[in-house]
Amino acid sequence: MNDQSQTFRTSLLEENDGPGHNPTDNATMGELIAARFSRRGFLKGSLAVSAIAATVSPMALMLADDARAGSKSAFTFEEVEAGIDEKHHVAAGYDADVLLRWGDALFPDSPEFDPLNQTPEAQAKQFGYNNDYVGYIPIDGSSEHGILVVNHEYTNEHLMFPGIVKVVEGKLEVAPADQKRVDIEMAAHGGTVVEIRKTGGKWQVVKDGKLNRRITANTEMQLSGPVAGHDRVKTNADSSGKKVFGMINNCSGGVTPWGTYVSGEENIHGYFLGKLPEDSKEAANYKRMGIPEGVYDWGNFHDRFDLSKDPNEANRFGWVVEIDVNDPNSIPKKRTAMGRFKHEGADSIVAKDGRVVFYLGDDERFDYVYKFVTASKFNPDDRAANLDLLDEGTLYVAKFDVDGTIAWLPVVFGEGPLTEANGFRSQADVLIETRRAGDLLGATKMDRPEDIGPNGVNGKVYVMLTNNTKRKDDQVDPVNPRAKNAFGHIVEIAEEDGNFTATKGKWEILLKCGDPSVADVGASFSTDTTKNGWFGMPDNCAVDADGRLWVSTDGNSPKETGRTDGIWAVDTEGAARATSKLFFRVPVGAEMCGPLMLPDMATMMVAVQHPGDGGEDWKPFGRPSYYEDLSTRWPDFKDNMPVRPSVLAITKKGGGKIGV
Ligand code: FEO
Ligand code: CA
Ligand code: CA
Ligand code: CA
Repeated sequence: MNDQSQTFRTSLLEENDGPGHNPTDNATMGELIAARFSRRGFLKGSLAVSAIAATVSPMALMLADDARAGSKSAFTFEEVEAGIDEKHHVAAGYDADVLLRWGDALFPDSPEFDPLNQTPEAQAKQFGYNNDYVGYIPIDGSSEHGILVVNHEYTNEHLMFPGIVKVVEGKLEVAPADQKRVDIEMAAHGGTVVEIRKTGGKWQVVKDGKLNRRITANTEMQLSGPVAGHDRVKTNADSSGKKVFGMINNCSGGVTPWGTYVSGEENIHGYFLGKLPEDSKEAANYKRMGIPEGVYDWGNFHDRFDLSKDPNEANRFGWVVEIDVNDPNSIPKKRTAMGRFKHEGADSIVAKDGRVVFYLGDDERFDYVYKFVTASKFNPDDRAANLDLLDEGTLYVAKFDVDGTIAWLPVVFGEGPLTEANGFRSQADVLIETRRAGDLLGATKMDRPEDIGPNGVNGKVYVMLTNNTKRKDDQVDPVNPRAKNAFGHIVEIAEEDGNFTATKGKWEILLKCGDPSVADVGASFSTDTTKNGWFGMPDNCAVDADGRLWVSTDGNSPKETGRTDGIWAVDTEGAARATSKLFFRVPVGAEMCGPLMLPDMATMMVAVQHPGDGGEDWKPFGRPSYYEDLSTRWPDFKDNMPVRPSVLAITKKGGGKIGV
């Protein structure tokens, strides 16, 4: 599909706002909505609390309200003014310093970045493209010396490569790729593992760090867990069904309590071309995942990305990958027990009984929220004992009920409808087709579940739901309460008894996003939120050591909200609940990723993804942006340098805790 414009290609991969892939009639709870809404209306009038309180005694509610009335915002920084220009902006009194740019050296022998003479070999030794998730693994418990891990989600060819774009009737046309370009793209995907150190208050990359590593779309990996060795993951190149090369479209991720890097493969459909053989049993499976989409040209040069030549390769992508950063030669493992779908993040928390719970979003319109609970306990005294914890455990999918409760349904072969009668012969089948299992279990269709952040301080869990403009009036339900949900919302889960392994809990909506001054939008920011403080499209989140919530966004733009993406600090507790303040904003065309707060809360890392991707709707530019004609030249602002996705380290001038 080489005639697709690059703008179209980009939007397919980053917004998931193409045709939906969930064909089921899973409960949107339509017939029960009226009852629910009338009940909520009653509660609103009488007690002014959210829906979840329906099951709490009135006395408890009054006590809670008293407690709330006394508390103030957890954030006192001076808010940034929302807007759009070619630069980034951070709150007054803070520095936001570029730490790593696309093309920066990661090893003593990395070639200097030369955008006019890119090679796959050079790229494999340099920081990759489109940084998304940013994680930190302390060395000796330090918040000033550690291992930074970064996902490189995807590539934007029109911004990366000179001489490949034509503008035809105001739209970009990107030339088909040759093999060299494809191989550079493959080397720019994956992840970075790099030692960093703060000296004199400023962060620096340790170029000769012994653990520094680039993971690419060609790095040898192992399929691990219930799917390893299954016939459906055997390919022409790998009769064992265990040896895979590369991870792709790694969006968000996590760091485990035992100090490994986990990374979610998200929009894998765009990397496959070609037609499945007529008799293939994978047709329904691939259709549910939207495979193939043919966004990239890789399949023209690498047979494994062509379904007609290797029909099983796509079953080897769409997993959570675990990377042991302590050994730069370790073979990353695709942890199949955690399910196969369009994985967003993998944030985790140790539950009261020592098992570890990972919260997982499947980022597609009308797809599901999951969690994975390890079978065994985390051993804080023996790192090695934890290294295969992710191979055994239970995957659950969420059903949000109208009465404000949530049920976590086991995605386990033999339970309920997950049987041979429905085409599953083993747990491996269930995991390869996790989405279909969720369909059969009656999971709740959500408005694009992205990052999900457990909060160890208050026991709650925050679910970022980016948007879903395709939800129709008759598909509205209490947990996805807006039709044509253009701005997204955040759901808060309270697991039963504060136990993250629980199979039940309660939910309520923390925040409906969008401009609160436009009544039709139906946003629910607190009245203390200023014109700069509201946002749309929550995507990633971080919960810091104080339990404070920081949200990054994907999709704010001149057209959508009259502002760029950024980091917003969101109060979750007391009278300030649902108050939001703008802390940082990106340059024109960029998307905000990260955020990461270091344990001492004196550094926040943020990732600026695809700066300069777009400019049509921004009046001072007013045309499409591409390598030769860019809406910004952030971060270098040199005529001979293209835009460069970068990770920034934010610190307070003079040091100290961020946000206050
Ligand atoms: Fe890569 Fe769900 O965003
Ligand atoms: Ca995301
Ligand atoms: Ca996160
Ligand atoms: Ca994103």
